Amino acid sequence: MFESTSGRTLSLQLLLVCVVLLSCTQDSKAGLTSTFIRKQWPSKDIPLDNEVFAVPRGHNAPQQVHITQGDYDGKAVIVSWVTTEIPGPSKVQYGKSEEQLQWSAEGTITNYTFYQYKSGYIHHCLVDGLEYDTKYYYKIGMGDSARKFWFHTPPKIDPDAAYTFGIIGDLGQTYNSLSTLEHYMQSKGQAVLFLGDLSYADRYTKNDIGIRWDSWGRFAERVAAYQPWIWTVGNHEIDYMPELGEVRPFKNFMHRYTTPFLASKSSEPLWYAIRRASAHIIVLSSYSPFVKYTPQWWWLQEELTRVDREKTPWLIVLMHVPLYNSNEAHFMEGESMRVAFESWFVQYRVDFIFSGHVHAYERSYRISNINYNVSAGDPYPVPDKSAPVYLTVGDGGNQEGLASRYRDPQPEYSAFREASYGHATLEIKNRTHALYHWNRNDDGKKVTTDTVMFLNQYWASHLHRRRRRLEKRGLKSFTASY
Ligand SMILES: [Fe+2]
Repeated sequence: MFESTSGRTLSLQLLLVCVVLLSCTQDSKAGLTSTFIRKQWPSKDIPLDNEVFAVPRGHNAPQQVHITQGDYDGKAVIVSWVTTEIPGPSKVQYGKSEEQLQWSAEGTITNYTFYQYKSGYIHHCLVDGLEYDTKYYYKIGMGDSARKFWFHTPPKIDPDAAYTFGIIGDLGQTYNSLSTLEHYMQSKGQAVLFLGDLSYADRYTKNDIGIRWDSWGRFAERVAAYQPWIWTVGNHEIDYMPELGEVRPFKNFMHRYTTPFLASKSSEPLWYAIRRASAHIIVLSSYSPFVKYTPQWWWLQEELTRVDREKTPWLIVLMHVPLYNSNEAHFMEGESMRVAFESWFVQYRVDFIFSGHVHAYERSYRISNINYNVSAGDPYPVPDKSAPVYLTVGDGGNQEGLASRYRDPQPEYSAFREASYGHATLEIKNRTHALYHWNRNDDGKKVTTDTVMFLNQYWASHLHRRRRRLEKRGLKSFTASY
């Protein structure tokens, strides 16, 4: 089904190739726990006076600029930013050349309080009607304080559209977080699938919570102003703090970050779907009701029927809490969502489920545990060709540090696991193949540590069936190269 190479050195690469090749030829697969021990930088947030959080110069200059996809199919973006002195215009001027920003769009302004902290003026502006596969320049702010950025729209929805996603989770604002972002910027990633837990501002108290949401916005801008980040919420976005009189969940996140949830007929910004190039991406909220008959459950049931693998072959689900995790940290926390949704993920042949939450990396085999129920059945996950691969990428590098204690022995569902910081990239090549890398931050160097060529769950099985039919009829398969 796949081939894998791993390793920092040639010998480790060879070892991992052998392990994975061996695992492909045997019924019982053995996973690998990396022995890599990272020299850790302290898991402390970067001080606020560091230049990574610098406030842009000029009166009322826009800061914390970030973009996300603004519609279902990738012809719109939402541009968001904050002004601190006066509201100022909520206008985005944009165009295809840096000199000629001939179009403009008008946004909205909001602000809020959190305890005694008062937010700046938060702007959200939908820029729509864009052309596919085009570089746009955009300008926000006034006079000398105006700032310019750019973004690329994705190729049109097409089953063979090549596209590279970055995958980052649990980022925070430490030196490790900065290393992750800098390494991601060296990759060919075109949009970020963010797996929840953005700022870790809730580790602070009182007004510092709002202040650290602001600093994270300035920190992430170096990437998020130029590429859409597809937002998933984590537990650090809940911000439930009755001791401060703040009991509305996701208050900071919901004011600052937007999602195109209405475009996918969702009733809440926390769960939604987008289509981009050849991928259909479903975002779920681990911290919103999801059991049978809840809005998220109804919505997911509907959205899965809208997936058209003939147009978007790659079906990707994002959620914060992993459904399969063999780390001691957060073990079994995803079990209730697994029980609620796993049978659908198998039925619809989801390609990948990306999660964060656990501050380490793990990749599963294709396994499922849908036959088990409370009174009968085998309670262990079994190999299942229709099941997704589960990938935990909660290793962005936040102030809580690494989750370095794995359950021993390594469960059979776990293919590879390593407790160090990094990010992943998914290079979709066409309707059948996607090259996946997990890249470790190794004290300043990006080191590709886990590489897998995945076959598409929908098209690969079609090709196999077609090949078998042709062979039965004594004809040679033209798909032999797959
Ligand atoms: Fe988390």
